[in-house]
Amino acid sequence: MNKKLLTYETTQAYLASLVPPREPELMEMEAYAEKHDFPIIGPACGYYCYQLARMIHAKSVFELGSGYGYSTAWFAKALKENGGGVVHHTVWDEELSQRARSHLVKLQSADVVQFHVSEAVEALQRTDSPFDIIFNDIDKQAYPASLPIIKEKLRSGGLLIIDNMLWSGRIFDKSDISPATIGVQEFTKQITQDQDWIVSLTPMRDGMIVAYKK
Ligand SMILES: C[S@@+](CC[C@H](N)C(=O)[O-])C[C@H]1O[C@@H](n2cnc3c(N)ncnc32)[C@H](O)[C@@H]1O
Repeated sequence: MNKKLLTYETTQAYLASLVPPREPELMEMEAYAEKHDFPIIGPACGYYCYQLARMIHAKSVFELGSGYGYSTAWFAKALKENGGGVVHHTVWDEELSQRARSHLVKLQSADVVQFHVSEAVEALQRTDSPFDIIFNDIDKQAYPASLPIIKEKLRSGGLLIIDNMLWSGRIFDKSDISPATIGVQEFTKQITQDQDWIVSLTPMRDGMIVAYKK
């Protein structure tokens, strides 16, 4: 292996370059994230979520921590191509929710999105289930407590997708005892030790777990 060529940077740039051309609105959302340092999942992970949702013919997706709707837009695109359904967008900030709505209208996907301005796990608890996919991107210290509720709300054969599972490398730093880092480590331990899940972690961008509920 040529470790000078096969670096994190070259790999991530290559993965992003493989994503097919996409709507200008999605690219504008990416440019905004880049300029303002807003943590969206980016094109490679977005396209991966879209692929997974198409593969299992998902009709119902619940997102926890949706920001201004970039990840939502990829799921919504998949659901429309799957013949319809609902993506639940949840964020606790009214302004972000409004911005997400405006982007999704421009993408002609707002008809498959339901918007919740709320703490995301509470919104999940209140919403009729089961879901085909649950996507988790909330504050990392809240990951461990969210797992039992997610497990209850996801159908058997459904997918849990969780972002930031490499947490910019902080998971490898034994001196890092911040609540967010502990949250990611604890969540990873919980889900990989639970026999009810089949779990893999892909090192795309900041690391995504895809977990299949048996
Ligand atoms: C990482 S960003 C989401 C990015 C989005 N998933 C995307 O890729 O386009 C997380 C967003 O969820 C919000 N958030 C974090 N924890 C939350 C919670 N427990 N309930 C609701 N919103 C939350 C944050 O304020 C932020 O706007």
